[in-house]
Amino acid sequence: MDIYSILKDDHEEVKSLLNELIALNDDDSYRAVLVTQIEQALVPHARAEESVFYNSIRAVSDQTEVMHSFKEHMEAETLLRGLQFKEGVKMDWKSTAIKLKDALEHHIREEEGKIFSEARKIFSDEEARMMGEAFQSLKEQVSDQGVMKNSFDMVVNLMPPRFVEKIRNLGDEKRV
Ligand SMILES: [Fe+2]
Ligand SMILES: [Fe+2]
Repeated sequence: MDIYSILKDDHEEVKSLLNELIALNDDDSYRAVLVTQIEQALVPHARAEESVFYNSIRAVSDQTEVMHSFKEHMEAETLLRGLQFKEGVKMDWKSTAIKLKDALEHHIREEEGKIFSEARKIFSDEEARMMGEAFQSLKEQVSDQGVMKNSFDMVVNLMPPRFVEKIRNLGDEKRV
């Protein structure tokens, strides 16, 4: 499968989890399960998407749209942390869940629109297929890693593309 179909499938999954979440009642204990599933669907997707897809686009093309999308990933993950907290202490979680759903729907619309059309101008069919494979294997790795590594990768992905690999290698040396 090419990168576009894989990303779209993931987007549908996270959207339907969020719809399930906001439909729950305050006393439904399934909420905690769904919040964890949303985190597991969202965070590895975002890291792998930044590393493989966004960084390839901004290495060879205008950065504006992609940098906007990076920012939206950060905003969504901040909302997710807020949701995890509110869910844990049983505070008003629904308004945060709705904010997260709205933010992600907006982000996904722009991504599948502007970002995909920019990418289709740049990548050949073969490159889009290879990128799909790279995305899948990176996503699995991110799922196995802890929060520290994940935060480090988020910051590394925001550096100018030509420095990304070098900084990542420095991080690996540090952790050995
Ligand atoms: Fe995405
Ligand atoms: Fe994204």
